[in-house]
Amino acid sequence: MSRTRWLMTGLCVAGAAGALWSFSWFAGQLYPHATAGDLAYKPADDMPPRVDMASVQRDWPASLGDPGDGNRLIAYHREMRGKAPMPSASTGPVAAAPAVDLGTLLVGADAAAGKAKTQLCASCHDFTQGGPNRIGPNLWGVVGRPVGSHAGFAYSPAMKAHGGSWTYDKLFEFLASPGRDVPGTKMSFAGLRRPEDRAALIKYLATLGNGAPSMPKPKALASTAQ
Ligand code: HEC
Repeated sequence: MSRTRWLMTGLCVAGAAGALWSFSWFAGQLYPHATAGDLAYKPADDMPPRVDMASVQRDWPASLGDPGDGNRLIAYHREMRGKAPMPSASTGPVAAAPAVDLGTLLVGADAAAGKAKTQLCASCHDFTQGGPNRIGPNLWGVVGRPVGSHAGFAYSPAMKAHGGSWTYDKLFEFLASPGRDVPGTKMSFAGLRRPEDRAALIKYLATLGNGAPSMPKPKALASTAQ
């Protein structure tokens, strides 16, 4: 082979290697990889040296929204790696997620914001008095109304079997995830994840008509009243 041939071959090989390397570099940027048990993302420098694991477990997951809690979580995992298996139900009480109190949420809820949220429902529901059924039933006065009872709407068997009336609590559960709360419902709506959004929406729904029962009392107030 001539010298130029050798040179060309060399360049091709080097080029191919370079292309491969840059591709894998690029893939690494997209998907940082880590071996099992490693953290894919580097913890920040201001990591607290020691973590009060009990407190992390106790507040979990409510506290994770606070600034710096990502680091607490990472530090917590670091500590857990060197330790015995996670506490199971039999080794002691595991702190339950703190329950949201609907009564308290409703006091702080903003009905106007709730009204804005009904845009998410408007493609399927009418909210006016005497208004039509659409894909879903008319929702005027739904708070306090017996479940699945609006005239002229063909409810699913699942909804008919749900029973009772739409209390604040029931709506709060249902709107979080209709399909989970009433399996088989034909309301194809993912749900409103944020409890605050649901509370605001329900507060607004309760203003439609006169049938809504009084709002549940905040837990804190109810206990001091006794
Ligand atoms: C994709 C259409 C769709 C959307 C969006 C939707 N719904 Fe529904 N909804 C339905 C259908 C259909 C039903 C009847 C369910 C059944 O019979 O299983 C229903 C039922 C309901 C019921 C029970 C009514 C009764 O008379 O028992 C409530 C309450 C309700 N929806 C509230 C809402 C709210 C609040 C929103 C917005 C956050 C919403 N829905 C969004 C379709 C929808």
